[in-house]
Amino acid sequence: MGALKADCPGAINVVMLGPPGAGKGTQAERLSRTRKLPKISTGDILREAVQAGTSVGRAAKETMEAGNLIGDDIMIAIVQDRLDRPDAHCGFVLDGFPRTVVQATALDRMVADSGPLVVLDMAVPEDVLVRRLATRRICSKCGANAAPDWKTTCGKCGGALVTRVDDGIEIVRERLKVYLRQTKPLVEYYSARPTFSSIDGNRPPDLVTADVDAALDAAKDAAGRGVAL
Ligand code: AP5
Ligand code: MG
Repeated sequence: MGALKADCPGAINVVMLGPPGAGKGTQAERLSRTRKLPKISTGDILREAVQAGTSVGRAAKETMEAGNLIGDDIMIAIVQDRLDRPDAHCGFVLDGFPRTVVQATALDRMVADSGPLVVLDMAVPEDVLVRRLATRRICSKCGANAAPDWKTTCGKCGGALVTRVDDGIEIVRERLKVYLRQTKPLVEYYSARPTFSSIDGNRPPDLVTADVDAALDAAKDAAGRGVAL
């Protein structure tokens, strides 16, 4: 699994796994900045498609607003298409994909010759997730999560801050159920791999980032030493 790319020996591919509100997007954003890897968030891609009114967006809107998952075939095609773009050639951070065993199997095929796949599972207790999502605000224009010091407008683009349409308490409960049923089995799918790490996500973001960085450095070191990953 994960042979090094001849033309891209330092390539590293990261999957952020975890329930809604675990901090996948927050940590993926940081990794993307510090490691110069494209952040590929399937939730963001779908929300942009809904906003733009594309055929994918029109088909996905209702399902997303109910807290359910979009079909595997659509998601696999979206991700395959995105990974084929040149900026993902030497690595990427996936946020929100895979979410089912079918998606994980497809991803293994996509990255078979693309460097190690580092899987970081962010663990956060359910009551904390519910609290985080109840208070989250996002930018209506660029989709960024609001920082604590942004009052009514986005600190990046000036857009109005709003509640995410699927962050209502009933939909959050549904998203958590869907996570347990369809996505949590991926922990078992990946956990025997040497590139899998469980991260305690219930700590201040900087401490979580330190563990994320350490897990990535360990995987890079091992790959550099020729350990089969
Ligand atoms: P998606 O957008 O991926 O939503 P999600 O998985 O439910 O996760 P969230 O974005 O809510 O949380 P997060 O883990 O990114 O946490 P964040 O960093 O924002 O998917 C949305 C929908 O799209 C799905 O329901 C589905 O319909 C569809 N979809 C997407 N991908 C799909 C796929 N592969 N297959 C099928 N359907 C798919 O943090 C949350 C909040 O907590 C923020 O306010 C943040 O500031 C705060 N926070 C973050 N870290 C910390 C910390 N350490 N301490 C305190 N607060 C923190
Ligand atoms: Mg997110």
